[in-house]
Amino acid sequence: MLKIIHLSKVFFKGSINENVVLRDINLYVPRSDFVTIVGSNGAGKTTLLNVISGVFTPERGSKIEIDGQDVLNLPEYKRARFIGRVFQNPLEGTSASLTIEENLAIAILKNKKRKLRLAITHKRREEFRSKLRILGLGLENRLQERVGSLSGGQRQALTILMATLAEPELLLLDEHTASLDPKTAQKIIRLTEEIVVRNRLTTLMVTHNMEEALKFGNRTIMMHEGRIILDVSGKERTKMSVNDLLDKFSEVKKEKLVEDEMLLI
Ligand SMILES: Nc1ncnc2c1ncn2[C@@H]1O[C@H](COP(=O)(O)OP(=O)(O)OP(=O)(O)O)[C@@H](O)[C@H]1O
Ligand SMILES: [Mg+2]
Repeated sequence: MLKIIHLSKVFFKGSINENVVLRDINLYVPRSDFVTIVGSNGAGKTTLLNVISGVFTPERGSKIEIDGQDVLNLPEYKRARFIGRVFQNPLEGTSASLTIEENLAIAILKNKKRKLRLAITHKRREEFRSKLRILGLGLENRLQERVGSLSGGQRQALTILMATLAEPELLLLDEHTASLDPKTAQKIIRLTEEIVVRNRLTTLMVTHNMEEALKFGNRTIMMHEGRIILDVSGKERTKMSVNDLLDKFSEVKKEKLVEDEMLLI
């Protein structure tokens, strides 16, 4: 489904600030896989998602295919038709000045399988209500309220619903619960899983929460300095504990320390 071959990304190439952020990443994600991605700050996780969705162009020789289609020649707005994204910031992904139902109508317009007009009919409203009811936040009774009046958690839940309404081929979540209080974060992550599993969405989810990383999805990837240094699924993953993941983190950090020390000698 998602195929990434020899993917590299360098910022400020050729300048004194050159920064190699993705180093020859190879990754194959079969349909309906739910992959969690961990890695320390600056590891390249967000950049990976940005390159997949077309925000940044990778280095020459990189290849990204979705459903067998080479997407690198497609601009971001075209890729948005089959990629759903949810960011860390609840303010992104929804329009504050529009109502809940207007936001949902826009999201549904992205669905290429359904030819719809923006008009909000009685039938459409009922459909929105039933979808919103799943969130369990009472938003089904607030269809005509502006999104700007919602709390961060409510808004993030709505964003997830919107991102999935278009039935994307690929769903990219970047620490989408990080700015929420623990209880709301729990709710949103469970909701995410429910929606992903119900729609069998192929998903990449970046998280700093190791427990979440192992508990949700069926595969976990760890990134470090632009490389994938761990890729576990199946039994190996089931047996893995949060401590094992943390050990892996300190292992690569130690290696880095030794490298740095050697440079100093
Ligand atoms: N638009 C940009 N221009 C220049 N450098 C960038 C840009 N975006 C990211 N970088 C650099 O790329 C590196 C990786 O950043 P990235 O945001 O992908 O990390 P991350 O793994 O998502 O980290 P975090 O866990 O902190 O979100 C960093 O060194 C960062 O400074
Ligand atoms: Mg990031």
